[in-house]
Amino acid sequence: MSSTKFSKIAQIIEKRIDEGEYPLNSKLPTHRVLADELDTTPATVAKAYKLLADKGRLESFIGRGTFVCEPSELSMAIQAPEDEADFNFSILQPCLHKNVLSLQKAYQVAGQQLTADLIGYTEHSGHKAHRQAGVNWAKRYGLEGGDVSNTLLTNGAQHALFLLINALTKPGDTIAVESLTYPGIMAVASLSGRNVVGIPMDGHGVIPEELEKVIAESKPTLVVVVPSHQNPTGITMPECRRREVAGIIEKHDIWLVEDDIYCFLNEEPIPAISNFIPSKSFHISALSKAISPAMRCGFVKAPQGQVTSLNAHIRTNTWLSSPINYIAATHLIDTGEAFEMAAIQRETACQRQHIAREILPQLQCHSSGYHIWLPLPESWKAERLMVEAKNKNVIVSSGSYFDVTGNEPDHIRLSLMSVSTEQRLREGLSILKALMDSDVNTLFPF
Ligand SMILES: Cc1ncc(COP(=O)(O)O)c(C=O)c1O
Repeated sequence: MSSTKFSKIAQIIEKRIDEGEYPLNSKLPTHRVLADELDTTPATVAKAYKLLADKGRLESFIGRGTFVCEPSELSMAIQAPEDEADFNFSILQPCLHKNVLSLQKAYQVAGQQLTADLIGYTEHSGHKAHRQAGVNWAKRYGLEGGDVSNTLLTNGAQHALFLLINALTKPGDTIAVESLTYPGIMAVASLSGRNVVGIPMDGHGVIPEELEKVIAESKPTLVVVVPSHQNPTGITMPECRRREVAGIIEKHDIWLVEDDIYCFLNEEPIPAISNFIPSKSFHISALSKAISPAMRCGFVKAPQGQVTSLNAHIRTNTWLSSPINYIAATHLIDTGEAFEMAAIQRETACQRQHIAREILPQLQCHSSGYHIWLPLPESWKAERLMVEAKNKNVIVSSGSYFDVTGNEPDHIRLSLMSVSTEQRLREGLSILKALMDSDVNTLFPF
């Protein structure tokens, strides 16, 4: 079965969902019925259904059938690759081919290091040597005060966000986040029955006066920020803004979660906000963006008094994060290779940002981040551009997936790192540029 065939069938189904032929919560035809209609095989339809289920557009229930479901921002923002011809600008991950060899070697070493001690149940926060590696990783990029007693291991940063939101707030509580934010934070809040309120931002991140206002008006229990190369805006908070934010958190009965997953992309380490308020803040770092998201290695530095409670959450939630991945991670960090890999990814991001600025002159910001937050010409709406770009095999994320206020921002987010080569980057961006330069009104009506 060709991958093109089932992804084409998936596109037909998705179009029918978008156009209302298959409404929300409706049951889809059986594999056989749709296969007959579309002149294909039931196996191809099954594969198309699976693809759309992975994207969060369908849900299958054994014995009941397949139903159209509400797409979540998270599943829409990050789209799995469908077709080799696609220019997928939706996934924020490192240039993976640059890391494959080092990872192969690290896992070989990890295999040789496996001992009975390492393959059993262990402390929920992880082995001491692996926690120390996490301390060293975060310290290199600006976090102070981490040690093996206050650092815990998680299955990546998303898991850390889930644990922290559930440990620090209760259903019905409000969480304050940047007004444009990573949809994974909104997804955890929504699944856990927490409300979300947006804090307005300027070019340096959340605005201190606005943070004060949100705290006074919405009484959040927790503030979550992404201080470096923020997703989606790309903004990095300078040290002075970090100090101001810390000062405000300190004055109130409130926690800070600092999701610093992109800290390794800063040209020079910038002190973490958590350095200024260690007893009120939780700092998250991870290897997903520098080394590989498949490793699922995340680190949380917590206030000492909160470690026992967080361990209880880890125990209930996952028992422990797999030590086997952490053996490889610790090898990479202890030998210094992890930092070299991070530097290569940063260098690649800088080169790709340069290419993006050449092709898209409306880009003003100079960043070493993985992504760009691209303003659209006035005539274009983000959702429309996303659909038209997809017809040309270019996958982008609409700004609406990141907007806490529900406005439709006139931006799209583009990851520059998920297409394989600089040549493909140029081709994909040029297609997008030509589309944005064209007159939306002369295209087929939407
Ligand atoms: C700000 C932010 N936090 C967390 C994550 C998830 O990271 P992980 O793969 O380590 O769970 C992402 C992924 O895009 C992200 O952008």
